[in-house]
Parts: sequence; structure tokens; C-alpha cells
Amino acid sequence: MKLLEIQSSVRLEQSISRALSDEFVQLWQAHHPNAQHKQRDVGIHPPAHPTEQWTTANYTPIDQQTSEMQAVLSDSERLIEELLWADQLLLGVPMYNFSIPSTLKVYLDNIVRVNRTFVFDSERFSFEGLATNKKALVITPSAGNFAPDSSLGAMNFCETYLRSILNFIGIQDITIVAVPNQFMSDAIRQREIKQAQTTLIQLAQTW
Ligand SMILES: Cc1cc2nc3c(=O)[nH]c(=O)nc-3n(C[C@H](O)[C@H](O)[C@H](O)COP(=O)(O)O)c2cc1C
Repeated sequence: MKLLEIQSSVRLEQSISRALSDEFVQLWQAHHPNAQHKQRDVGIHPPAHPTEQWTTANYTPIDQQTSEMQAVLSDSERLIEELLWADQLLLGVPMYNFSIPSTLKVYLDNIVRVNRTFVFDSERFSFEGLATNKKALVITPSAGNFAPDSSLGAMNFCETYLRSILNFIGIQDITIVAVPNQFMSDAIRQREIKQAQTTLIQLAQTW
């Protein structure tokens, strides 16, 4: 088993997504002692944004890429290799302005690439993901409550976007552990964290 942990909070000290992820990884490793684990911290070390040069290189077939093009794509290639290495993904994803952190978006811009993580059939205008045989677990805290049946449910672009983009590259098995109400009273906040911990304790054995 190979777990890639991707963290995207800009916080280290107070981060709920990081604290819960740490707890989960420790429990998961205890249940899977031979498993391998890597961490990619895009919250603190975001990849570079795509540029014009990058985009030109990206759309050039691999066998026609110059050495300059390969150099421009090299960081993105390393991130893709790391993603393809994993069979399980753990993502720490705080909700930022109803969506995912921009650091995670730039990571996705680097790894969602034609002929690397998806293929495109221009005759049928259809897509197929290449990052198959993986599952993802997402830990996503937020200040408010964005459950589907809540008044803010329609503004939860974090979960809907993540599901869409992971599906797009071939990852269908997605478990989301939301940690809502983090700007409510301490009692409510702690109750939500406890609930997430209970779910994660179980997932450490079964996921
Ligand atoms: C830039 C920014 C934007 C945020 N936007 C939202 C938001 O749209 N909705 C929400 O409920 N919480 C929002 N929050 C609160 C965070 O989701 C919440 O504090 C969460 O716990 C952060 O994750 P972390 O604890 O892992 O750092 C925002 C926080 C930041 C820093």
C-alpha cells in the first residue's frame, strides 16, 4: 500500500486538517505497518503556476518535446510520477472562499495533464482518466456548515469541485470527512472534531 498525503492548509500550528490527517496517518500506519507514506505539502510549498512556455510544452506530443520543454515540465512531471506511484491519497483541504485553497488548485493545474492523467478523444469529445486504481480520502474543515441539506449547501464548491476533478482523472472511490462549524462555539467546534476523529479511527482500519 502506498499513501500520498497532500496538505493544502496555509497553517501549520492551528490547522485542523493537518492535525486530523496526522492522527489518521499514525493510526493507519499502525494497522498497515508495511505501507509506504509520502507527504506533499502544497500549502507551504505550492508548485509554480503554469506559464505560456509550460502550456506550449504541455500540448506538444512527448516525442516532439525539446529539452527546454522537458525542463519546463520537469516539476509537473515529478508531481505526476508521485501521484501515479500512490494507490491511496489523503487530502487535507480547508474550505477557502467556498472552494479549495489556491495552493491546491495550482497543484491540480500541474497534475491534470492531457496524455499523463487523462486522455481526450477529439472525435467523440470524450475524456478518460488515467490515474486509475486509486482511492481518495479528503479531510475538509470549514468555518460554517456546508452539508448538502444545509442553507449553505449550494455554495460548497470545495467538495463538488474535488469530486469532479478526481473523477475526471480516474479516481472514483472518494471518501469525504467534513469538519464543519469551526467558527461556532468551542463546544460545537469540539463536537465536530470528535465526530471526525471517530470516523477517521474507523477508516484507519477499513480504508
Ligand atoms: C482565506 C480563507 C478563506 C476561508 N473561507 C471560508 C469559507 O468560504 N467558508 C468557511 O466556512 N470557512 C472559510 N474559512 C475558514 C477555514 O475553512 C477554517 O478555518 C478551516 O479550519 C481552515 O483549515 P485548517 O484549520 O486546516 O487551516 C476560510 C479561511 C481562510 C484562511
